[in-house]
Amino acid sequence: MSLVCLEDFKAYARQQLSKLSWDFIEGEADEGITRNDNITAFKRIRLRPRYLRDVSTVDARTTIQGQEISAPICISPSAFHSVAWPDGERSTARAAQEVNICYITSTYTSCALEDIVAAAPGGLRWFQLYVQPDWELNKRLVQRVEALGFKALVITVDAPVIGNRRQNMRNQLNLEENIMLKDLRSPEERNSTITAPTSLPSPSFCWDDLSMFQTMTQLPIILKGILTKEDAELAVKHNVQGIYVSNHGGRQLDGVPASIDALTEVVAAVKGKIEVYMDGGVRTGSDVLKALALGARCIFLGRPILWGLTYKGEHGVKEVLNILKAELHTSMALSGCRSVAEISPDLIQFSRL
Ligand code: FNR
Ligand code: LAC
Repeated sequence: MSLVCLEDFKAYARQQLSKLSWDFIEGEADEGITRNDNITAFKRIRLRPRYLRDVSTVDARTTIQGQEISAPICISPSAFHSVAWPDGERSTARAAQEVNICYITSTYTSCALEDIVAAAPGGLRWFQLYVQPDWELNKRLVQRVEALGFKALVITVDAPVIGNRRQNMRNQLNLEENIMLKDLRSPEERNSTITAPTSLPSPSFCWDDLSMFQTMTQLPIILKGILTKEDAELAVKHNVQGIYVSNHGGRQLDGVPASIDALTEVVAAVKGKIEVYMDGGVRTGSDVLKALALGARCIFLGRPILWGLTYKGEHGVKEVLNILKAELHTSMALSGCRSVAEISPDLIQFSRL
């Protein structure tokens, strides 16, 4: 069987996975308005290609937080990759290392962080933190990921509580009990009695608490889940190093804008002071092109990575990434962009938006 686009991997995963696993991955909050809009918002945007510009070589390399990646296509944090493939996050990490892009490891993993790093020691990795109510645990976790060579701390801000996932309720999948309360302590810590296991994200975490992280680590801090100019301005004011526009794949507050629609106001508010990234609904090379034209430094993929894992583990993830990279190269050539630096807002037909 030949899978030629990301939608093909979705169809494969849907028929391969158990209903419980498929519903967990697909899982949208409430009526799925935002989850669906993430996809359709990209389809509303029209492009303005430029021709006669020698596109015999196209180079999609770029940098994020100063580190080079082979294309502006990276891996969003998502929980429990062993739902899709037995080797879980280890396979994801290997694929990311081979393709030379960034993999953001979730707080909620199915393998120990040490094992994920050992599977792909040379890969660029960031760590996504769900802030814990126990500040001692936050500190130990942050110091542990820094020592393990993670290069940025991505703090997810859109999940003070978990969204209302109807399918999980119907399937009686209790994320809190079955999945979330995973023991994230290091192997040594697990043998001692001093630390508590990881729990749900803290609902009381707020702007004033950010400085605690800034004193505990040298790592760049990126806020994931920002959707408004007000919060973007606050993020800049609080001296974070990056903003990651996201609505959690439509799994949290239903009815918020598609990520690609929210991107414009965030980019305008940030005024180039820090890098802005996005995820949500990116499925084709021209989606990537549109996100970059609207000011994203790079995009991240959530569900498509889990579809790739379901297909063939590490090799499936590599295929997903390579297909999207190839599509981006084609879209760049067809629009007259030889490098990511040439992808500008001029590519977008704003009169139609
Ligand atoms: C997620 N997402 C997520 N985000 C996060 O910050 N920490 C997490 O642990 C998870 N877990 C998670 C599990 C699953 C199964 C999915 C599908 C998503 C959200 C994720 O990082 C990302 O924002 C969206 O998935 C992006 O949208 P697309 O690419 O799935 O449309
Ligand atoms: C989710 C949580 C784990 O979206 O972030 O399922």
